[in-house]
Amino acid sequence: MTDNAVAAVTIDPDHHRGPVDERLFGSFVEHMGRCVYTGVYEPGHPAAAGDGFRTDVAALVRELGVTLVRYPGGNFVSGYDWTDGVGPREKRPRRLDLAWRSIETNQVGVDEFLPWAASLGLEPMMAVNLGTAGVREAAALVEYCNLAEGTAWSDRRRANGVPKPHGVKLWCLGNEMDGPWQTGRKDAEEYGALAAEAGKAMRLVDPGIELVACGSSSHDMPTFGYWESTVLEKAGDVVDYISMHAYYQEHDGDRDSFLASGASMDAFIEGVIATADAVAARRRWRKRVDISFDEWNVWYQSRFPGSEVLPIDTAGPRIEDVYSTLDAVVVGDLLSSLINHADRVKIGALAQLVNVIAPIMTEPGGEAWRQATFHPIAAVTAAARGNSLVTRVTAVQYATRRHGDVPTVSAAATHDPATGAATVLLTNRADRPTTVDLRHGAFEHWETRSARVLAADDEGPRDKAASAAVALTRLPADETAAPGTTRLTLPPHSWAILQAAVRRPD
Ligand code: AHR
Repeated sequence: MTDNAVAAVTIDPDHHRGPVDERLFGSFVEHMGRCVYTGVYEPGHPAAAGDGFRTDVAALVRELGVTLVRYPGGNFVSGYDWTDGVGPREKRPRRLDLAWRSIETNQVGVDEFLPWAASLGLEPMMAVNLGTAGVREAAALVEYCNLAEGTAWSDRRRANGVPKPHGVKLWCLGNEMDGPWQTGRKDAEEYGALAAEAGKAMRLVDPGIELVACGSSSHDMPTFGYWESTVLEKAGDVVDYISMHAYYQEHDGDRDSFLASGASMDAFIEGVIATADAVAARRRWRKRVDISFDEWNVWYQSRFPGSEVLPIDTAGPRIEDVYSTLDAVVVGDLLSSLINHADRVKIGALAQLVNVIAPIMTEPGGEAWRQATFHPIAAVTAAARGNSLVTRVTAVQYATRRHGDVPTVSAAATHDPATGAATVLLTNRADRPTTVDLRHGAFEHWETRSARVLAADDEGPRDKAASAAVALTRLPADETAAPGTTRLTLPPHSWAILQAAVRRPD
């Protein structure tokens, strides 16, 4: 007699959506709070390299395994003059940043940040200011970053000591331009027209770039849907991607709804795909606009009083969320949602990379440490390769206040035919153990190499000392339950990752 729930997940190497783009596992560094200053960059810190960037943070970024970094904002970009951040440091202005009401010292700008990203193998994704600036400033930044020499801006870069172009391929046309909080917010028609013109000019500078138009700031925006279709009607000929942003949190102890965040993300993504495809059909495009999910995470936004009440300050803490193991389980499940839409979501950026709302935290002058959310991200970036498999999940549903009826188990899987590696992610959203039969009989060979799990506890947010104890632990895998099946029992409110070798050794 057991009170375990039961579920089944079936996978087949031939039933897939194509490859997961490696840019799906990106991150985000914004000039916000302590993300840049005393986050990635802290001259004088014992671990700082000659350029002032912290080597202890860089080591954790490598371990986290992210592939891409969006920069410099976020809301920050809508008031940013990128020319403030280049040239001799002693001449750079201290500017009032209206997004976060802080003083931006401009000691880090594109010529410091982009080499740092390159040193870590991170593809840069630059955002241009379409809030308080426009076409001219955006095109000038592409010229500064990407042209070799012989023009005013490329020669300015060379004079600033950067002889080779930075070669930035991916560009965001502004940030959250539908948000009332955005400096220089626009309506959909206005933004779509501006994005089209800015994108056109930027491409005239460098035809090789890719462009991301702003989608809605969240699924809850009143203009969601209308915004996407209007922006794509106006700028769809020029852009390659439409952006999505989403933050999740537990509201008023409603754990059931919070654990269903992945299902909510699924619905949001599917809504944006439907809207983009409707515009494409109406316009008879041969091209397809894909998705850049360039801000996502757990963020306790309800605890943030709003920028307008913050005293003007240099980069202080502002927002610094400390995460629980429950938050980490939800982050793992959100990664499943992204992988399950890998045919259309090509770019992802966890917001953010260091401090603020991030898997890596730092102490000024002190240690860098891993938050609970670090662990599922690092596990997925290390293992999820190759095709995104279509998973067939049979599980009971449970009722949630915010997201309706949702399956108690979610799953995502990848298979890399080149290496013969398969990875399966499983979330148990139920408040009791769930025994999952993973049916992989369609693979000619299956050898489970490891199965690890993270179960949410009731301890709440973990500070630095408590976070050190968070780790994925071994999950027993029973290969004898039935032919072609691996049986796993997931603890309540848990996230698991299983890795297998699926090709016979030669
Ligand atoms: O990531 C933090 C902020 O969230 C970003 O600046 C903004 O784009 C979003 O609202």
